Amino acid sequence: MPAPRRKIKAGIIGLGLMGRELASATARWCHLLNLDFEPVITAIGDTNPALFDWFEQNFSTIRLKTTDYHDLLSSPDVEAIYCAVPHNLHAQFYVDIIQSGKHLLGEKPFGIDLEANRQILDAVAANPHVVVACSSEFPFFPAAQRIVGYIHQKRFGRIIEVGSGLLHSSDLDPNKKINWKRMVEINGEYGCMGDLGMHALHIPLRMGWLPENVRALLRKIVTERPNAQGEMAPCRTWDNATLACDVNTGDQHFPMTIQTYRIAPGETNTWYLRILGTEFSVEYTTKYPKTLRTMDYEPGREQAWQAVDLGYETAYPTITGGIFEFGFSDSLLQMWAAFMDQVANGRDGMTQPFYCATPEETHQQHLLLTAALESGRASRVVRVAGIESRLDLSGGI
Ligand SMILES: NC(=O)c1ccc[n+]([C@@H]2O[C@H](COP(=O)([O-])OP(=O)(O)OC[C@H]3O[C@@H](n4cnc5c(N)ncnc54)[C@H](O)[C@@H]3O)[C@@H](O)[C@H]2O)c1
Repeated sequence: MPAPRRKIKAGIIGLGLMGRELASATARWCHLLNLDFEPVITAIGDTNPALFDWFEQNFSTIRLKTTDYHDLLSSPDVEAIYCAVPHNLHAQFYVDIIQSGKHLLGEKPFGIDLEANRQILDAVAANPHVVVACSSEFPFFPAAQRIVGYIHQKRFGRIIEVGSGLLHSSDLDPNKKINWKRMVEINGEYGCMGDLGMHALHIPLRMGWLPENVRALLRKIVTERPNAQGEMAPCRTWDNATLACDVNTGDQHFPMTIQTYRIAPGETNTWYLRILGTEFSVEYTTKYPKTLRTMDYEPGREQAWQAVDLGYETAYPTITGGIFEFGFSDSLLQMWAAFMDQVANGRDGMTQPFYCATPEETHQQHLLLTAALESGRASRVVRVAGIESRLDLSGGI
């Protein structure tokens, strides 16, 4: 008989696009091997009760369904919550969840703006026994994990430059209806940067590459869109942002570009990371999800990139054969496993070392994006404020 697993009672608040993805990842827990913990979906919350059916059809473990998220916070049937609601609700919901003592995997950008993010971080600091993390799944792609390994091994020599980005294209269609992600009051002033920035920044920030300064080029390309009634409504969010950043870590000083585009013709959720160095370079894009390109260089030798097709090499071992492909939903499952591992074992006791994006990393993201907004407005280079030293958010249980 296998040893019993610790069951972690999990609730989901926000049952839209991401709420369902996370639930589906939970249903696929049997995919993972050798874990002694397991999330069980016990509670769901959304103001739209029409979304309950799909969950109830697929999860017989649900005990609580509600249109008032506070019900999850007072429920003994909930230990941890995944929260995927629009950005204007992040501060209130996340603070309430953390203060209720439930562990939180919250969606990015972790607050609609810097002030909202500060409120969340204050709640984190006041509740150190609560595990709090930000959703960011792309670093769990096998190639991304390899790149993290190369950075730790200091393979690059002197870093020449870094480029990271997340590219979408569906907004190229001017007839695409407006939704909350294109409304400043719900999505936030950051626009595409708040939506996509954490994806591009998670690995750079984890590696200590918070830029010193930024010059942002922000673009609004489609300025109005049809609403649900077919009338044209103003579309005030930034569509595309290119951030030219100066990173200085003391022993490395290099330019880093961060691209967050809603209108990148032909791209469907393309995440990429490129690091060029004097001794080693690497390039990866989810457009070619298996293929990792690298170049080793020694002075005087030929400069030749090589490509390797990676198989299913994952942070958490799975039943999938090593030759098969890895995709978006696999990365979400790996991220969910990392969060649950942190809940079950604490960050220092996790069964593998790559933990989810931290509250501090979301704060660094906000510091950069706030500076980027000012840079875009004033057309000048803006210094990024340093991470506040008063914050000690190492967290864990
Ligand atoms: N990690 C990723 O790859 C990824 C991808 C897309 C979106 N996101 C993030 O996930 C979050 C949600 O995005 P989405 O695409 O799932 O949005 P969505 O619009 O599909 O879902 C949001 C849900 O929140 C619900 N909601 C709104 N107000 C509520 C309230 N007061 N109480 C309870 N529920 C409420 C809505 O009814 C809706 O079902 C955002 O923070 C977004 O940035 C992350």
